[in-house]
Amino acid sequence: MIYTITLNPALDRTFYVNEIKPLESIKVIREERYAGGKGIDVSRVIEQLGGESIALGFLGGYAGKEMEGRLLNEGVVSNFTRIRAETRTNIIVHVLDNGEEFRFNCSGPDVSPAEISDLINLCKNLRPKPDWTVISGSVPSGVDAVIYEQLVLIFESMGAKVILDTYGEPLKKGLLATPFMIKPNKKELSNLVEKELETIDEVISAARSLLKYVQIVTVSLGANGLLGVNADGVWLAKPPQVKAINTVGAGDSAVAAMVIALQNNLPIEEVIRQGASAGTASTLTKGTATVNREDFKNILKQTEVQKLS
Ligand SMILES: Nc1ncnc2c1ncn2[C@@H]1O[C@H](COP(=O)(O)OP(=O)(O)OP(=O)(O)O)[C@@H](O)[C@H]1O
Ligand SMILES: [Mg+2]
Repeated sequence: MIYTITLNPALDRTFYVNEIKPLESIKVIREERYAGGKGIDVSRVIEQLGGESIALGFLGGYAGKEMEGRLLNEGVVSNFTRIRAETRTNIIVHVLDNGEEFRFNCSGPDVSPAEISDLINLCKNLRPKPDWTVISGSVPSGVDAVIYEQLVLIFESMGAKVILDTYGEPLKKGLLATPFMIKPNKKELSNLVEKELETIDEVISAARSLLKYVQIVTVSLGANGLLGVNADGVWLAKPPQVKAINTVGAGDSAVAAMVIALQNNLPIEEVIRQGASAGTASTLTKGTATVNREDFKNILKQTEVQKLS
């Protein structure tokens, strides 16, 4: 079974308004609510692509309950660890008159040591047994960045392979536990190696330097595709040019397709081809990390993989 882990999820509420004027009552024309979080997005796209996963992480309060219900309605199976504090809500205001968007990201709730321990115990006793685990996104307040290192060790000791998609300190620490694969974008990789990476050669050599920790380094390059690096070589999957509508969650969509491909024992060329195609397909829909299966199949046919070395 594939498990995804989201320690710092959020309920996203989007208000659609005609215009914003200070000190005036603003009528909300429509509201949308969305269970958000990087690992949750991966689970959602796995489901959209016909795969199965179970989403884990922390949820609390009414927002947490609502998220569980929403995920169930979307066909995403979850087994969240309950926390006492309320899961955060992010507010997005979309102004219909001019297309402007305002995003208010709230900080997440504090997670107590006892709640961290609840999650660790759940992970150690998972049924069905994990064979792949995707750990994504940020670490909530109250939790040390070392949590990812610990989670990687726990899952690997159970025989699972781990994909770690995060940035900053949690990525640095998580790497020490030697996960199977990471998927930074160019900025996250630059931050990790502490060097501003410009050219593709610089990106490749930075990715190669990480092979002492992981088996595969994939680096997402936005519209320029997805790079795959392992001990045998370097490949670049180049998706066709598209008119992207929403690129948020493209990386999570790529990770979802890649974990399914890895579970099916596909070679690295095919893993990154599927990843790049799902990422690009997700940019064609308005929703965050939403992949239409027909778009995915069409783009897959047009995505080429080049061996660079
Ligand atoms: N503008 C775009 N046009 C075509 N494909 C895109 C575009 N942006 C992203 N993609 C596809 O999606 C993949 C992942 O995108 P990106 O590099 O933006 O990930 P990311 O920064 O991790 O995103 P996020 O964290 O928001 O999910 C790329 O490798 C590419 O295949
Ligand atoms: Mg990302």
